[in-house]
Amino acid sequence: MQRISVIGSGTMGSGIAHTFAQYGFDVALVDISAAALTKAQATIASNLDRQIKKEIIAETEREDILGRISTYTDVDKGVRAADLIVEAATENEQVKLSLFEQIDKRCPQHTILASNTSSISITKIAAATQRPEQVIGMHFMNPVPVMKLVEVIKGYSTSNDTTNKVTALAMQLGKVPVEVNDYPGFVANRILMPMINEAIYTLYEGVADVEAIDTVMKLGMAHPMGPLQLADFIGLDVCQAILQVLHGGFGNPKYAPCPLLVNMVIAGKLGKKSGQGFYTY
Ligand code: NAI
Repeated sequence: MQRISVIGSGTMGSGIAHTFAQYGFDVALVDISAAALTKAQATIASNLDRQIKKEIIAETEREDILGRISTYTDVDKGVRAADLIVEAATENEQVKLSLFEQIDKRCPQHTILASNTSSISITKIAAATQRPEQVIGMHFMNPVPVMKLVEVIKGYSTSNDTTNKVTALAMQLGKVPVEVNDYPGFVANRILMPMINEAIYTLYEGVADVEAIDTVMKLGMAHPMGPLQLADFIGLDVCQAILQVLHGGFGNPKYAPCPLLVNMVIAGKLGKKSGQGFYTY
């Protein structure tokens, strides 16, 4: 696998494109928004500068890495030569189902279709295509160039061959793949999101303020950052979408998003990406 198409150039898509290009792959970065692509290119360039300062990459590599990423606003053009597609578009089931139906028709037969979804059923996404055995979850963590984990999610029909190829590829990127099965939230978000939601409830009920809640979890539980700051980094809209999938998938009211989270999303306070969430950026 040499040619990788990444669909969606937001928080995650830009990091995924950066990482593949850093490890020598040719990347087609696709987004329906030209502004998102421009922003992604600037983010990648500034994150490369940070890696140069930290001596993770050499300054001479910078232009080569950027040169390996081409951008497309036309999905059909962006996927037609791909060996692997990693979809990192908005966490919305309808968006993903129609994208997979479309890309399945436009890319070569051998192409593996991966989704970076945080919670949406891989089995359902696969069922929108004619190649369910070649559809898999490849769940990177934020920030992608830094975080080691890739949660590899096997849908009901995902073949062992597809799983083995994606696992090997994750290792080529210096990541540690962990194989899990396809149930709501998989492992990472099934455990993480109820904690974040509970932290938001703790704030909502006036038990403590933002600083206090995050400090308790940092100093008391040795978490590198508090749950409210982490929610800001993930994006509050993404957190809400994942909780809705857990709520719908398990039918248990304990997963329902806290009303404060819902209000903040409606008000456009989405966390770091919008400049304001539980903290100001
Ligand atoms: P984001 O909101 O930052 O970016 C999403 C991008 O997708 C936007 O630029 C949007 O224009 C684009 N997009 C929407 N529909 C499209 C379409 N039909 N074709 C092409 N581009 C389209 O979202 P983010 O945070 O990057 O999340 C992307 C995916 O990654 C979601 O599935 C999310 O659940 C998952 N994820 C997010 C993490 C996080 O920390 N934010 C962590 C791990 C996974």
